[in-house]
Amino acid sequence: EHHNHCDAILLRSHKLQVAEIGNATCAIARAGAGINNIPLAECSNRGIVVFNTPGANANSVKELVICAMLLSSRKLQESLQWLSGNEDLHEIEAGKKLFAGPELLGKTLGIIGLGAVGSLVANAAEALGMRVIGYDPFLSVQNALRLPRAIQLLEQMNELLKQSDYVSLHLPLSPKTTRLLSDFEAVKTGARLINFARAELVDEEAVAAALMNGQLSYYVSDFPSCHFASVPGAICFPHLGASTPEAEENCAVMACEQLADFLLHGNIRNSVNYPNCELERTREHRLTFAHKNIPNMLGQISSGLAKQQLNIQELSNRHREAFAYTIVDVDAAPSGATLAELRSI
Ligand code: MLT
Repeated sequence: EHHNHCDAILLRSHKLQVAEIGNATCAIARAGAGINNIPLAECSNRGIVVFNTPGANANSVKELVICAMLLSSRKLQESLQWLSGNEDLHEIEAGKKLFAGPELLGKTLGIIGLGAVGSLVANAAEALGMRVIGYDPFLSVQNALRLPRAIQLLEQMNELLKQSDYVSLHLPLSPKTTRLLSDFEAVKTGARLINFARAELVDEEAVAAALMNGQLSYYVSDFPSCHFASVPGAICFPHLGASTPEAEENCAVMACEQLADFLLHGNIRNSVNYPNCELERTREHRLTFAHKNIPNMLGQISSGLAKQQLNIQELSNRHREAFAYTIVDVDAAPSGATLAELRSI
């Protein structure tokens, strides 16, 4: 209820309920990449523009993914457990052979999802001497340009699973990607699976079974789960991927700047449900419309303005799937009656 009069909501991990979004709310910004804690369909239908901060925490996640590859290779966690309390240097030297593990150099890393984080991981892995292959059916031109030249892009996910010594997931969670990895038959025997994206991208019971039967040797995840209690090879962190002071600040600043530009000028940058739409602010009177992508919206807007003899001086209209957004700069302030008429469209 306390959100009822907010024009905008800024959040990180809070799971926002529909009932918490008041009638005045016209924008929500998430300081982070994933938006699965926001009721997106409801927001879109109500004309609420939802923003995220793509890339702002990508470096912090990338660094932990490299750490995860090393953890799953060099048996670091097991060696520390074994070492705990043992001060006999002789015994330690003799026992260390239990903890030999492979180098990353020359191994194949398969990256599923080549957005802001996936592309940084690809470049870092290449710099470590790994062969990098990738799968992303929705790869944008902008993201493709960030990839290392040597990356091999595959059209089938199973082909990537077959070839990879390490598989790292960097996809957003959506109905299409939920439990994307639920069958591990195609996986190279003993592969290491790394998930710093979202828990629900994998079928956790199937991952635990694959660890038990040796199909996977490690699952390093940022999401603890009861399915992995005492399963050998499962290493889970408490969602630490973006927990660096740098990432937290980058995300917060980016989210605030995007919200401010929207609330003050109506510009949309990095929305996940409405199109990006920006118009330089050179005039005083600006109206913005978040609407459905259907015929005659612009006609209705301009005839509503014409009734008050308002002249359109600048206009920008963009659409994204079922929704659209229009910015209209006019030469005088619209009256209350005109605004009410425009709102009723
Ligand atoms: C993300 O989606 O970018 C992360 O989950 C952010 C976070 O840890 O809050």
